[in-house]
Amino acid sequence: MSDNPESGALPQLTARDDIGEVIVSEADLTRRVAELGAEITRDYAGREPLLIGVLKGAFMFVADLSRAIDLPVQFDFMAVSSYGQSTKSSGVVRIIKDLDIDLAGRDVIVVEDILDSGLTLNYLTEVLLGRNPASLEVCALFVREGRQAPETDLRYIGFEIPPVFVVGYGLDAREQHRNLRDLRAFIDQEPKK
Ligand code: IMP
Ligand code: MG
Repeated sequence: MSDNPESGALPQLTARDDIGEVIVSEADLTRRVAELGAEITRDYAGREPLLIGVLKGAFMFVADLSRAIDLPVQFDFMAVSSYGQSTKSSGVVRIIKDLDIDLAGRDVIVVEDILDSGLTLNYLTEVLLGRNPASLEVCALFVREGRQAPETDLRYIGFEIPPVFVVGYGLDAREQHRNLRDLRAFIDQEPKK
């Protein structure tokens, strides 16, 4: 470690100039995740749902949501890529890591970080329904207002958010800022190519 603060030490995460205003506060996240967990607990009473987290963005939400569910649950994770290095949806979805657990006869809840166009989710639910689960519902923490395709069917929604690119609570911009405790606006400092 350098003892000279001028010699390239990184500023504190929340003090960086690509981190903008709070879109959803940590307190609101905590409260809403608890509510969603309570709803799922009621809806799935007597069952053992399988939570499928969509990596990487949903990792923090899955961890908190599962602890707000007062039922036995199982976990699996899937990784898909829709954006690559860009902050615009390409419409192309690729499965990078598939599930380990057989979905046949299971009560599946897909846990997503954010829905923008809904392309990623529409593709995923189609693939997963083909594996014959007993039921399949979607729980998305954030939905960008007015953006998603009409056929997107969401059982549980955390928050509707305004049309800005956001980071924190698991969400990234170029793999950065996932560990912010609030959801923040991202201010892109890189020149447009
Ligand atoms: P969609 O396919 O357009 O709905 O995009 C959904 C996926 O894009 C999410 O699961 C995220 O991984 C990513 N994404 C969309 N909007 C944002 C954002 O504002 N910040 C970070 N990631 C985002
Ligand atoms: Mg992402």
